[in-house]
Amino acid sequence: MTKTGDRKVMKVLAGETVFPPPIWLMRQAGRYLPEYRATRASANGFLDVCYTPDLAVEVTLQPIRRFGFDAAILFSDILVIPDALDRNVRFVEGTGPLMDPISVEAIAALDPSRLHTHLAPVYETVRRLRSELPAETTLLGFCGAPWTVATYMIAGRGTPDQAPSRLFAMQHPEAFMKLLTLLAEMSADYLIAQIDAGADAVQIFDSWAGVLSERDFTRYSIEPVKYMVDRIKRERPGVPVISFAKGAGALLETYRAATGIDCVGLDWTVPSGLARKIQQGGAVQGNLDPLRMVAGGAALDEGIDEVLETLGAGPLIFNLGHGITPQADPENVTRLIQRVRSAQR
Ligand code: CP3
Repeated sequence: MTKTGDRKVMKVLAGETVFPPPIWLMRQAGRYLPEYRATRASANGFLDVCYTPDLAVEVTLQPIRRFGFDAAILFSDILVIPDALDRNVRFVEGTGPLMDPISVEAIAALDPSRLHTHLAPVYETVRRLRSELPAETTLLGFCGAPWTVATYMIAGRGTPDQAPSRLFAMQHPEAFMKLLTLLAEMSADYLIAQIDAGADAVQIFDSWAGVLSERDFTRYSIEPVKYMVDRIKRERPGVPVISFAKGAGALLETYRAATGIDCVGLDWTVPSGLARKIQQGGAVQGNLDPLRMVAGGAALDEGIDEVLETLGAGPLIFNLGHGITPQADPENVTRLIQRVRSAQR
C-alpha cells in the first residue's frame, strides 16, 4: 500500500467506513494548549504567527505531537483573504477580529492581484508541513466561505446575528453579489494553491450559514461554495472538499448534492435522524458539542458514545460540532481520543 493509502481521513472522504473513526478537532491548534500560548506570546501578534512559516508549522504540529490526531489543519485564519485585500485586519486581545467596514465604493475598488504574493508564506507553511508530518496524517488546507468572510468585511467585526451583512445584501444587492463573487474566485485560487503546496484535502468554513433564510442560503452560501467546488473538481480532480455550514439545520439535507462537496460538517444541533440521512449520501464530520471538552467526565463520555452510536456505522470523521474553546482541558482531549480509539462496534 502507498503511504497516502494509509491516511484514514482520506479513506473516509472517499466514502469508506472506518471504525473506530479517524479523529481531529476544529481549532485543534489554539489557546487551550499551553505550548500554543507560549509560541503566541513570543510572536508579534496573531497574524505574525500565520505569516511566519517557522511559527505556523510549529503550532500546527503541536496538537499532532501531543495527541496524534489523524489530520493536521494548516495554522492560519479565514481572515487572511480580507488581509490580502488590504482591509486593515487586526486581532485585538479580548475583542476578536477587527477590520475597516467595507462600503459599496470600496467593493468596486477591491484589488485581488496581491493574493498569491501576500499568501506565499502560507503556501510555504503547507509545503513544510507535508514534509514534516507523519505519512499517515492527512494535511487539511482551509479557507472561509464567501458569505462568512463577507460578514466580517461588511460589519468590520464579529456580530451575533450578522444583521449588518443581511441588511447590506438587501440594500445593495449588486455590490454584495460582486463581493461574494470576488471572494469565491480568490478563495478557489487560494485553496488550489494550498493543494499544489501539499494539502491532501480542503475544508471550507461557513460558520455563519445559520443566520440565512432558505432563499438567501441558496444564493449566498450554496452558490459561491458550489462555484469553488466546481473549480477544484475541474482543476485538481480527486482532491476532496469538506464544508462546514454551521447552523444550517434542515437546509443541510440537500447541501452535499447542491454543492458537490465530499463531506458534510455537522454542528452539534443537527438531529440524529437528519445526520444519518445526510450520511447516506457520503462522509460526514462532527459533531460533539465543544462544551463537553470543558465539562469532561461523564458529560464527555456520554457525548462521545452518542456520536459513535448515531454515525459510527457509516463514513465518519470524528470531530467537534464547532471549534474547541480556550477553556477546554487538554486532558479531556486525551480522554476523548482514548475513548474513540478503543470503541467497539
Ligand atoms: O487549529 C486550527 O483549526 C487552525 C487554525 C484556525 C484558526 N482560525 C486560528 C485562530 C482556523 C481553521 C480558524 C478558522 C476561523 N477563523 C473561523 C471559522 C471557524 C469558526 O471558529 O467558526 C472563523 C470564524 C475565524 C475568524 C476568527 N479568528 C475569529 C472570530 C477569531 C477570534 C475569536 C477566537 O476564537 O479567538 C479568530 C482568532 C483566531 N484564529 C485564534 C486562533 C488560534 C485566536 C487568536 C489568538 O491566538 O490570539
